[in-house]
Order: sequence, then structure tokens, then C-alpha cells
Amino acid sequence: MGLGAPLLLPLLHPLFLGAAGAMLTLYTAPETRAALGSVALLKCRFNVGRPIDPAVLRVRWLSAAAGPVAQYDQGQGTFEPRLRLSEQELQIGNASLEVQDVAVQDNGTYTCEVAYGTETQMGKTTLWVLAAPRISLDQRMGGAETSLLCHVGGFFPEDMEATLLRDEQVLDGSTRSSPQRNWDGTFSLTLTYTFTPVRSDAGAIFACRVRHPALGQPLVEEFALEVPGSDRTGAAIGAVVAIVLALGAVGASGYCWWQRRGGKAACSVSKVEGPERCRLGQAVTLRCSVEGKIRAHTAVTWERTQGEDRTLIQKDGPGAAPEHQPAFPAPSRLFPGQFPGWTSTQERSKTGLTASLTFTPTVQDHGARVRCLLQPEARDSGEEPERWEIRVWAPPELSGIQVLPRWDPPDQVPFAVHLHGFYPRGIHRIAWSMDGEAWERSEPSDYAENKDGTFSATSVWRGPSRRLARPEQRVRVCVQHGPADPPIEGELSIGDTSLLRPPDVSAISWPQSVTAGRAVTLRCRITGRFPELLGGTWLRRDRGAAHAAARQDSAGHRLLPGQPAPAADGKRFVQEAGLVFTPSVRRDHGAEYTCRVEHVALVQPVAKRSAELQVRAPPDVSGIQVLPRWDPPDQVPFAVRLHGFHPRGIPRIAW
Ligand SMILES: *[C@@H]1O[C@H](CO)[C@@H](O)[C@H](O)[C@H]1NC(C)=O
Ligand SMILES: *[C@@H]1O[C@H](CO)[C@@H](O)[C@H](O)[C@H]1NC(C)=O
Repeated sequence: MGLGAPLLLPLLHPLFLGAAGAMLTLYTAPETRAALGSVALLKCRFNVGRPIDPAVLRVRWLSAAAGPVAQYDQGQGTFEPRLRLSEQELQIGNASLEVQDVAVQDNGTYTCEVAYGTETQMGKTTLWVLAAPRISLDQRMGGAETSLLCHVGGFFPEDMEATLLRDEQVLDGSTRSSPQRNWDGTFSLTLTYTFTPVRSDAGAIFACRVRHPALGQPLVEEFALEVPGSDRTGAAIGAVVAIVLALGAVGASGYCWWQRRGGKAACSVSKVEGPERCRLGQAVTLRCSVEGKIRAHTAVTWERTQGEDRTLIQKDGPGAAPEHQPAFPAPSRLFPGQFPGWTSTQERSKTGLTASLTFTPTVQDHGARVRCLLQPEARDSGEEPERWEIRVWAPPELSGIQVLPRWDPPDQVPFAVHLHGFYPRGIHRIAWSMDGEAWERSEPSDYAENKDGTFSATSVWRGPSRRLARPEQRVRVCVQHGPADPPIEGELSIGDTSLLRPPDVSAISWPQSVTAGRAVTLRCRITGRFPELLGGTWLRRDRGAAHAAARQDSAGHRLLPGQPAPAADGKRFVQEAGLVFTPSVRRDHGAEYTCRVEHVALVQPVAKRSAELQVRAPPDVSGIQVLPRWDPPDQVPFAVRLHGFHPRGIPRIAW
């Protein structure tokens, strides 16, 4: 039909497209391996070149042994138990068959058959069922004879290789039973070796080794033989529990012998020894030791775990195989080279093995845990070695104490210290003090994280500016990162800051004219100083005197110290000092007044001198009199007396 109407093809039902040929394609995976009891997926995909119409789709799965096991026909699915085809997946070209709880009888070849419209495609896929053997090594005694029985159970397929070894040599005289079928279709068999032990057999290592397709590496179980009287412990022959090892091609190269008597192992891995904290950026060495009977091939591997990540660090760095060491099973998650700076070394002694791990911690190592493992890895080695936690630490670096530019409130001086590069976050205690008086300050609040993961913070303390008086005063800060950490101290001497400012002292101001007997005020303006504290005096040098003398507050002189007023920013003080006195000609004329100011920021006092005082005194004028002597006689002499004036000289008298 389709062939008859090729031009109409795109409009036709997919059924007819199939008939047009070569539109249906199918793919199957050649094989799938699945462990007994797991879920297997037999992969089969198909494509029709356009959206799939379930109405014309038919899918069948056939087992070579059992015929059709699953089918889907025009929207209807029928499956054997444990098998499943997803209708949803079918509509997107996925005809894979899910086999749940894989059983031995599922092993075999399957055919995936897809029909779309008139076209049919099929492909084959094989399911290999695998079951790994379990082994146990037993000893049976009858009189002088001893039988070693290696029971290998639960394996599939049947092909396997089982060997008994003594001191890593194959034992020739062992017998092997024929495989028995178990109820689940897996196989079991037993290897037996019977002999009469003598004293010199004590300590011999017997092992049972099995190779099987379901195992990545041979499975080995072994133990050391004990013979009565050969050893002070005097245990019964072979009263030893063996360990199961998964080993490389070399075979039974065990790592150390676990001889459990009363639950104690004869060989044990110590805890990791290391510092309680690791200082950031400083190389640290961790140690662990193994005591007891250790086999030559044994090596210590360091395991580092952090969250989900697990890394093994072996001798000569991560990923490197230890010397004389066969390949052993890869850990679940190994990131070789992720910790390139971590180096592991080990040293053998008569009593055991000592392993060291050296690295330079970074912040990223914080919280990681480390432990020692013996390689080849023991699957049944008793207690798990404890994990040692890396706790990274970096003390803060203190900046010098600084005075912040903005003073708020203005009567308090803000001192700040910057704490840099500490880890972990948090500062236990910061205490500020001045002149031995302490002020506690709790944690700083402005933590910042640095690029390297460390933290920085600033602590600010506001000291009352009133208490600053001397350049030798010291502000101290004491920082304790953790409660047990030694305090780190910083100190600032007030004299080293730019806080201290000397005063500017103005010229002395006084009234234009000084008149004897009338009170006068001299003023001296002092600006720009810090701190507030100020000393000063007024002095007077009398006319003709060599030295000036201080004026006290007395009846003759009243000192007006003035009120210091802070500038708006708190960093400067202004004050006006005054001296009030009532001048007299004799005392004050020609005298010189000095305003002298002392301040911590001044090496020498600043003195401002007035000019020599010019004291004026107006004349007292007596009544006009007629003098008794008239000369010349034709003129009447009138006289007036001017008294007590200063200075000398009357520029103008008019009659
Ligand atoms: C196909 O479908 C099965 C379920 O039947 C599913 O498990 C599988 O992931 C699907 N495959 C793909 C490639 O989507
Ligand atoms: C499993 O199936 C494959 C493929 O049919 C076959 O070759 C093999 O012998 C089977 N294994 C066993 C143990 O039956």
C-alpha cells in the first residue's frame, strides 16, 4: 500500500511508514553482568524516526531456555514475576527489561523483539549471573591427625579455582569434593588437607585461596597453626581464628596475625598520634605504629576522610603503590594527587612498624579525619582504628593600635586593633586597658573571611579623652583567641600617636587705655590643644626688674582660668584665661605681664608677653588762686595746681 503512494508518506499513519521499510532500528547491549539478588537491566532500544504510537507497537522478550517471558501488545503488558517493562519508557523507544532479585535460573541469553506496524526487529543480549564465594577455614582433630577443611560456598557459575597453601606454597596433598548444588542454584565445595602436625609446624601459616569470576581478587582465609607445648600459651592445636583477606596476585601475603585469645589481637594498629591542633601553614607529622608479628609485605596506608570523600595516602604520596606491594583493591572513592603535599613514610623495627604522615595543613583540612590502615586491607580485623580529627588553628596577628579618625561620642577616643588571619572564627576575649585600669570588651562583630579561609576582625575601644594626660600613658589590648590560648598583647603609647597637640597661645589683649585705679582685664586665648589638661600662670616683671614673678590669686590680682571648651570633633580644646587687677602708676607703669601656658604637648611653656604698660592718671586740678607776687605789676597772676597725673607733661592748658 505504502509503496503504491510514496508522495503521501509523511501524512500517513506510522503503520504504513514501517511498511515503507528501514524506519525501525533496534539496539541491544551484548551482555549484562548481575550479582545474585541484585536488579539487572537487559538493555534494548529502538527508534522509528518519529513519535511512537503505542497502538501499533508490540514488544516481546524471549529467554533461550524458557521462551516468552514478557510482552507488550497494543497497550497491554504481561510479564513473568520479577520482570518489568516500563510502558512510559516504551513510548520513548526504551524496551529494556528489568529483572528484579536476579536468580541463578535467570542466567542465559534473551531476545528483544520489537514490532512496529508491519516491521519487526530483534536483538540478543546475555545475562551473566554471578555469585561470589564465601570461604571458611576449619580444623578438625582426630587423635594425632588434624584436618584442615576449607569450605567454599554460594558461588555461581561453577567454574572456580580453590587452593590450600602452607606458607604461601600450594599444598599438594589436598583433596577437593565435587561441587554440590544449593537450593538457590549456587554451588559449594570443600577442600580438605589431613596431616599429623609436629612441634616445628607451630606458627606455620595455612591459607585457603579461591579465584572466581565474581571476585575482583582472589579471596584468602588464613591462620597460624599452634601446636601444644610449642609455645607458653599452650593452646590447643590450631586454636586460632583466621582473617579473610582480599589480595593481589602474590597470594597469601597477610599483614599481621590476629591471634585472638580472650578477644585480644596479637598485632594492633595504634591510634594516630598528633598534636591537638595543627597550626595553619606549619608542617605537622602524625604517627601511628603497629606492634606485633607483621608480614614483610605489610604497609600502612593513611586514610583521610572528609564528609563523603575518602582518600588513601600511601607511601610516597597518594595513589602510589607501596613498595613490594601487589595491587590491592581500590578504595570506594580515591582521589589520587588531591593531596600532593601529604607524604607518608614508614619504618620497620623488631617490634613492629611506625608510619608517619607529614603535611602542611590548610583551612580546608579542618575537620578531616585521619586513621591508619594496614594494607592489604583487613576485612575482619576486629576493632576499627580510631579516626583522628585534624583541627586547624591560626592565631590572630595583631596590627598596631590605631586611633580612629571619627570620634563618636566626641569625648571618647576610639582606639582600634585589627586581628588578622586567625582560624577558626571567634575570639574568646579582648581586654583593653589604660594605665592598669581594664575595660573588658567582648567579641568583635565585624568578622571578615579572607581568601585563604582565615578570618579577620577589628576591635574598637573608646577611652574617655579626659583621662588622657601624659605622653607616656599606654593603651594596651590583650587578645585571647581561645580560652586556653596564650594572650597576645598590643600596646600604644599616647606619645606615639598624633593625638597630642600643643596649644596656640594668642597675644595678650588688654584695653586701649589703662587708667590708674580702674580695673583692667588682660586676656590670653589658648586654642587647638589636646588633651584638655592645661597648666599656666600669669607673671609680672616690674619696670627695671630683671625677672618676672608669678601672680597669685590675691587681693591685687584675680586669676580667671576660663572654661575649656571642646571643638565639635572632640579633638581640640579652646580656653580663654584672664587676669584682673586695678593698676597703679607706681606698680604697673612700665611693668610687663606674661601669660604662660604649660601643656603635655609642649616641651617648653609658651609665654606671651604684653608690652610695657602705660598707665595714665589724670591730674587733680585745684581751685584757681591769685598769686601774692605780681610781676610785672601790671598783670594779675592767676594759678591752678595740677596734681597726681601720669605721665609727665600736660600738652595743653587754656585759660
Ligand atoms: C530504560 O527503562 C528502564 C526501566 O524499564 C530504566 O531503568 C532505564 O534507565 C531506561 N534506560 C534509559 C537509557 O533510559
Ligand atoms: C549462562 O548463560 C550463558 C549464555 O547462555 C551460558 O553460556 C553459560 O554457560 C550460562 N552459565 C551457566 C552456569 O549456566
